[in-house]
Amino acid sequence: QTVHTEWGGVVPELASRAHQQHIMPVVHQALKKAGITKNELNAIATTLGPGLLGSLAVGVSFAKGMAQALNISLITVNHMQAHVLAHFIDEPKPKPPFLCLTVSGGHTQIVRVNSPLDMQVVGETLDDAAGEAFDKTAKMLGLPYPGGPHVDRLAKQGNPLAFKFPISRVKGAFNFSFSGLKTAILYFLRQNKAKNPQFIKENLADICASVQHTIIKTLLLQLEKAAVHFRINQIAIAGGVSANSGLRKKVRELGEEKGWEVYIPQFQYCTDNAGMIAMTAHFQYLAKDFAALDVTPQPRFKI
Ligand code: KG4
Ligand code: ZN
Repeated sequence: QTVHTEWGGVVPELASRAHQQHIMPVVHQALKKAGITKNELNAIATTLGPGLLGSLAVGVSFAKGMAQALNISLITVNHMQAHVLAHFIDEPKPKPPFLCLTVSGGHTQIVRVNSPLDMQVVGETLDDAAGEAFDKTAKMLGLPYPGGPHVDRLAKQGNPLAFKFPISRVKGAFNFSFSGLKTAILYFLRQNKAKNPQFIKENLADICASVQHTIIKTLLLQLEKAAVHFRINQIAIAGGVSANSGLRKKVRELGEEKGWEVYIPQFQYCTDNAGMIAMTAHFQYLAKDFAALDVTPQPRFKI
């Protein structure tokens, strides 16, 4: 992942080359850590999408090769479904039906989960994802990529009400939009820097806290509406942004106020991880949902 920090974002070509370089050692290490040999595997799972085609192609091709060579089943997993099912790795597990707010670098969704393999997106972003809003803010503030964790860290020392940013209201009952916020931050910084070149440096924690506050408020407004509409009081969060300490705290508080049962994943299951792919594959394995060897990556794979 260091290659992304070096370039201030994900360069697709560099990402897929890094996948190519690391996939063999990673698979060896995983087998070693699990204390099993490849001959003991009864299936191999891979992410089919959504994501960057070049990176997906590395994983899908490798898994296909392994499935064929070992004569075992191939299971193809949806990345967004897997973020939700990370909740089934450890106790306590939510009991469907529940709602999951999945917030990552590329997606922002409210998902109604009827069972592990039956879920539907009831709200999503119409433009930028919540993680993107964090990352783009960080970039404008001169912070490294990925910016989410840096904004989170700095926000802890700032005042969330120091600056006011707009909350976009959009068409569709439970949808989101974050591109207006991005533009508002850009103009806000430009105007203030014109008056005081040291503005960012002098107000960094307050800016981070205020932007984070706005992103969280935008997310929770829609989540709360969906909970009321679907009359569901089991609420989960998932995806990279669910690692955000402000979001975790606010969801817990809102849950207490509304009488929700709140499910927040352990940190290691928030950002992208292979555990959530294996968990999803476990459910698909039980349902005998196997893939053919001519399957191809789906960069826009929908839940
Ligand atoms: O789920 P994920 O690991 O990858 C995708 O599927 O996109 O999510 C990555 C996103 C990035 O935008 C990153 O900045 C954000 O999650 N993120 C955070 C935090 N940790 C990761 N955003 C806010 N606060 C955090 N602590
Ligand atoms: Zn992800």
